Amino acid sequence: MTRPSPENVKRVASLGGGPIGAGWAAHFLARGYDVTAYIHSLDEEAKYRQVLDTAWISLEALGLAPGASRDRLSFTDDLATAVKNADFVQECAPERLDLKQALYKKLGELVPDGVLIASSTSGLMMTDIQAMCPSPERTVVGHPFNPPYLLPLVEIIGGKRTTPDAVQWAHDFYALAGKAPLVMKKEIPGFVATRLQEALWREALHMVANGEATPQDIDIALMNGPAPRLAIQGQCMAFHVACGAGGMATNLDQFGPALKLPWTRLEAPELTQELRDRMVDGCNEAAAGRHFEDMAAERDRAIVGVLKAVKAARAGS
Ligand SMILES: NC(=O)c1ccc[n+]([C@@H]2O[C@H](COP(=O)([O-])OP(=O)(O)OC[C@H]3O[C@@H](n4cnc5c(N)ncnc54)[C@H](O)[C@@H]3O)[C@@H](O)[C@H]2O)c1
Repeated sequence: MTRPSPENVKRVASLGGGPIGAGWAAHFLARGYDVTAYIHSLDEEAKYRQVLDTAWISLEALGLAPGASRDRLSFTDDLATAVKNADFVQECAPERLDLKQALYKKLGELVPDGVLIASSTSGLMMTDIQAMCPSPERTVVGHPFNPPYLLPLVEIIGGKRTTPDAVQWAHDFYALAGKAPLVMKKEIPGFVATRLQEALWREALHMVANGEATPQDIDIALMNGPAPRLAIQGQCMAFHVACGAGGMATNLDQFGPALKLPWTRLEAPELTQELRDRMVDGCNEAAAGRHFEDMAAERDRAIVGVLKAVKAARAGS
């Protein structure tokens, strides 16, 4: 078996030329790895390089690893060439089960024996993705948050035929490569972070549908209320600390009954034309004519600032 130890990984293959494939490539280049990019058509290279140029501004601001360079990237549209010398494979192909299953059937033979293959899938089960793979024991989900070159979280889970050592290896490698890996306890649709995000999203849609808040109101409330605190304390610790010396016990004993109040609607609202229009109009109004690329660049600059502030706050605590 040719699986290197996580600290000996030199070359990563990032498969797919969309925002996630290019975003992962930017991250790994910035951490000092050689990267081979598999793109389905060589026409995708120009767009890929645009993502890299945008990402590099933030990555330089965060600090590059010694020797990191965009020159250490090569492109190919041949899958076998892409993975031939890879020490780790990050798959970022379109989110279609049939397509990923066919791809893993090929990757299972092409990727050097034992080398990890991680899927960026946003919610497909690895048990399903690996169904036709001839070497499923080294396949895992490694789900990033977008953009992968900025947000640290990677959710990891194996499928039924993945071995535990592969999951552990993925955890150790992502940690070394500067990510915040979370090994999930069970294979569940939507994983952990997306499910939490969706719960928030459902409540927001209910409030807009009922005329209780506009999209702008929702974002003002989030950005000035929970969001700054959530960057430093998750929901559980925020409630624990907020309840004084009694902590979470006080929270649950005192406020537990309130969980039964009909505040949380949980079921998604009907996505009527009216709700759709309210959401679209509200967001367009808030965007005030700004181009999405400018807003994405502004977002990236601000996230760099948040990440630096969080790091400094944690170092000081
Ligand atoms: N976009 C997001 O916000 C986001 C966030 C986290 C995870 N993901 C997941 O990451 C993966 C990639 O997402 P994306 O938005 O970059 O995808 P995308 O659909 O934009 O791009 C996929 C790329 O895959 C390649 N491709 C096309 N057909 C292929 C085939 N038949 N075989 C192999 N490769 C092929 C192409 O290079 C294409 O650019 C998906 O699984 C997605 O669910 C997406």
